[in-house]
Amino acid sequence: MEKRTFLYEGKAKRIYTTDDEDLVIIEYKDDATAFDGKKKGSIECKGIVNNRVSAVLFRRLEEHGIPTHMVKLVNGRQMLTKKLSIIPVEVVVRNKVAGSLAERLGLKEGTPLARPVLEFYYKSDELHDPMVNDYHILAMGWATAEQLEEMRTLAFRINQVLQPFFLERGLELVDFKLEFGLHKGRVILGDEISPDTCRLWDVSTGEKMDKDRFRRDLGKEREAYIEVLQRIEGGAQDV
Ligand code: TMP
Ligand code: ASP
Repeated sequence: MEKRTFLYEGKAKRIYTTDDEDLVIIEYKDDATAFDGKKKGSIECKGIVNNRVSAVLFRRLEEHGIPTHMVKLVNGRQMLTKKLSIIPVEVVVRNKVAGSLAERLGLKEGTPLARPVLEFYYKSDELHDPMVNDYHILAMGWATAEQLEEMRTLAFRINQVLQPFFLERGLELVDFKLEFGLHKGRVILGDEISPDTCRLWDVSTGEKMDKDRFRRDLGKEREAYIEVLQRIEGGAQDV
């Protein structure tokens, strides 16, 4: 499938049309941003890592009956996907306290949770992705009650598939963010699942192996991203 015309550029991706109006090509960039685009930088190889990690995870989820937008990898940086109309809500699942939850509730990062926590955020950089709940989503018409329930159910199932998958590779899935969209009336997992959108802590050292290295200026971002890719792909493939 050939890339046709440029459609859209986001903070970390470019989208291109293809010959098939139902399909688009997503190209992952090395650009890194944080704090709603206020902090800017780049992590060499990030685009390749995020594309390939997402591909492995999407394939695994499909094997468990979870519909994703992935059709196939085009090359290291590009993925052919179904064209979705994105639901403007980010779905965050948390297995341990970290990040904004630690701040909001004044808890120490790493505090265990008795059960996973699910949160919704409205996708808007200008408003700093405010947290919203079911009532907001339904009142604004961002999703129907059925679509909302489907997102919730899929998000918990995705957690159940991914948590053990990462653990077998020495990584603790602390929390992650998902985006869903509609394709032919069906709720489908879109966007990416990568070290940009997950918190992954090394099981033996507790080291952060994700975008927090960039957000918090911890250094060795590239090394961490490549290490995650190699663990996920199960070998020392070239990057
Ligand atoms: P948070 O603790 O900052 O709310 O982040 C929760 C999870 O969501 C974490 O794994 C990182 C991910 N995330 C994104 O993918 N995009 C974002 O814009 C933010 C703020 C978080
Ligand atoms: N979506 C956030 C931003 O650009 C990045 C993050 O913290 O993950 O700015």
